Amino acid sequence: MFITRKAEFSASHTCRIESLSDAQNFHLYGEESNRSGHGHNYTVEVTLEGEPDPITGMVMDLKELKEILEREIVEPMDHRFLNFEVPPFDKVVPTTANVAAEIWKRLSGTLHGESYRLARVRLFEGPDTYVDITNGVRP
Ligand code: NI
Repeated sequence: MFITRKAEFSASHTCRIESLSDAQNFHLYGEESNRSGHGHNYTVEVTLEGEPDPITGMVMDLKELKEILEREIVEPMDHRFLNFEVPPFDKVVPTTANVAAEIWKRLSGTLHGESYRLARVRLFEGPDTYVDITNGVRP
């Protein structure tokens, strides 16, 4: 069984490699490379795989899941300029892929229990593009 909870945050970023010129960065990242940055409304969907507890009927306490998403993702990233305020994006280019990888990293340490595990992180950067990271299972 797969269970998914969504969270949203808004953050600014710029995608550029400082050792490259503005022209080279534009060639790689287009308008995303603008030095002053720009914002996105991100939506993250976090999917757990597990079986419902025979007594409670819950795979995981969803109040607890909501609190973990708030603490690990929304509070540290919402209304931040990722490159300057949220490590590792001072060193790692905050593309959708890398932001998704960081979210996976932050959650995989917390979201595992006897009856469930983290199965997928899906990160939307706006309505049209998303990245999936899975644990080898396709929910
Ligand atoms: Ni962008």
